Amino acid sequence: MYLKMTTNEQRHQSTSFPFSTMTSHLLLFGLLVAGCSLAFASDPSPLQDFCVADQNSRVFVNGLVCKEARLVQADDFFYSGLQLMGNTSNAVGSAVTPVTVAELPGLNTLGISMARIDFAPQGINPPHTHPRATEILTVMEGRILVGFVTSNPENRLITKLLQKGDVFVFPKGLIHFQKNVGNGYAVAIAALSSQNPGVITIANAVFGSNPDIAADILAKAFQVDVNVVNQIQSKF
Ligand SMILES: *[C@@H]1O[C@H](CO)[C@@H](O)[C@H](O)[C@H]1NC(C)=O
Repeated sequence: MYLKMTTNEQRHQSTSFPFSTMTSHLLLFGLLVAGCSLAFASDPSPLQDFCVADQNSRVFVNGLVCKEARLVQADDFFYSGLQLMGNTSNAVGSAVTPVTVAELPGLNTLGISMARIDFAPQGINPPHTHPRATEILTVMEGRILVGFVTSNPENRLITKLLQKGDVFVFPKGLIHFQKNVGNGYAVAIAALSSQNPGVITIANAVFGSNPDIAADILAKAFQVDVNVVNQIQSKF
């Protein structure tokens, strides 16, 4: 009896929207429609069950050419090695072990990939962006401070301290970073919404491009003396 009353009450509520609820539903619908056109900005949907990358092909398309389906094996969909810790003995104290289409050819056309990230104590994964993917990160071990910055003109920093088991998402294209704030090693697993997310590490791209961006351009952009730019460029 009580259950039945609850059900009637719910039905009543769902058939008499206050105006503000209807407005918000219309807004949501509008956003969904807008989202349909944005969907083309991610990896395209597959046109067959799979398209294992033929890494020997000399033909270049948007993605990689499919290996002949009858030659495909279970190992084409397989990768082994994420149990191994990356070597974090470097200037930033972190190591990324990627599992993209380059390492796992079965990912071709599937719009997904992953990575293991190891951090030495106080190590960082420096500010970077993935031009083709949103990233969702899970902390497996340790405490990791994460953050991303929104686009111009706000450039708002959105940051959070994560514990083991916590999950955080970095929206596509935005500059983000991670830091191990614990005293031991930290490990995270990232999933990315592209078979080939790409990485642009900000410091390397700006101060370590090949050839260099002219120092006077960077001096003006960063509002510092040319000597400061030369000093930073010498590190990358
Ligand atoms: C880790 O990398 C450092 C620097 O490149 C290197 O000297 C060291 O031998 C590497 N350690 C292992 C275990 O591979």
